Amino acid sequence: MNVQELINIAKMLVSGDKGLLAMDESTSTCNKRFAALGIPQTEEARRSYREMIVSTPRLGECISGAILYEETIREQKKDGTTFVKALTDGEIIPGIKVDLGAKELAGHPGEKITEGLDGLRERLAEYSHLGARFGKWRAVITIGEDKPSQGCMLANAHALARFAALCQEAGLVPIVEPEVLMNGEHTLEQSFNVTEMILREVFSQLYDQRVILEGMLLKPNMVLPGMSSPLQETVDEVANATVKCLLRAVPAAVPGIVFLSGGQSGELASARLNAMNLRYKSQLPWALTFSFARAIQQPALEIWHGEEVNVLAAQQALYHRASCNNAARRGEYKAEMEGK
Ligand code: G3H
Repeated sequence: MNVQELINIAKMLVSGDKGLLAMDESTSTCNKRFAALGIPQTEEARRSYREMIVSTPRLGECISGAILYEETIREQKKDGTTFVKALTDGEIIPGIKVDLGAKELAGHPGEKITEGLDGLRERLAEYSHLGARFGKWRAVITIGEDKPSQGCMLANAHALARFAALCQEAGLVPIVEPEVLMNGEHTLEQSFNVTEMILREVFSQLYDQRVILEGMLLKPNMVLPGMSSPLQETVDEVANATVKCLLRAVPAAVPGIVFLSGGQSGELASARLNAMNLRYKSQLPWALTFSFARAIQQPALEIWHGEEVNVLAAQQALYHRASCNNAARRGEYKAEMEGK
């Protein structure tokens, strides 16, 4: 492991006003999103959708890194250029989701554990060979009656730390993603408390597994009320709660925090990220940026709709969301940008 190299990659991923584009939907998630829009769920449809993304002109002005998926990292554009080369030619660092998904946690009905540690060392060596410079592992935490349990938080935090240590050993920057889900009726305060608890547990486990904090990134949820909660706080209230929670739990040695979007609309995700940077940027030890999937891709996916003829318009929509988030990093995002 070259520690300085890890630190450099982590810094590059959060440098400038850029953020990450998550295009790491598993085959089943991608198929679900296609099915919802009546797009055929074939390997070729998934490949051409991803070709549309990686070929978007000037994407590298706003996006520092793209998270690929097992299927995608081996794929090519129609002209034979690998997706990895297309991204690096566009000054976007390729990375990959390396977990094998969240499965039912035995003895904990309604809770999940992310699998994929067995054989991970060998897979990481292969991904590195294919050109990946960072890896991502997502754990999901559910808020509900008697949830999350201590057992679920501990098991997921431990797995995240084991993944992160293996990633660094392989020379890949780990993106550690403990996601407190938005599903449910919980309050902002409950989301705050659970997010703080899981982050504290994650950093304790990262410490035990000797993960170099300077050579990793954290990918958390924003602190949000549940989607079905009757009380939906303002953008500024969400920004305040999120920053307060992160300041309590995330060591200053971590170079960057790259939020997931988790089901928020693209506009809200940009507005909330913007409010955090506008109000707090100069006082924070880490960069605050984005690693959105749905909040960047959704409008482009709807426009593309599986049709070659829509590629240009879809790419414009993708670039637009990426540039809105770019502005949000500077605290310069405005709702009026959406009309353009
Ligand atoms: O793991 C999830 C993705 O990397 C982020 O997806 O922004 O749609 O929540 P999302």
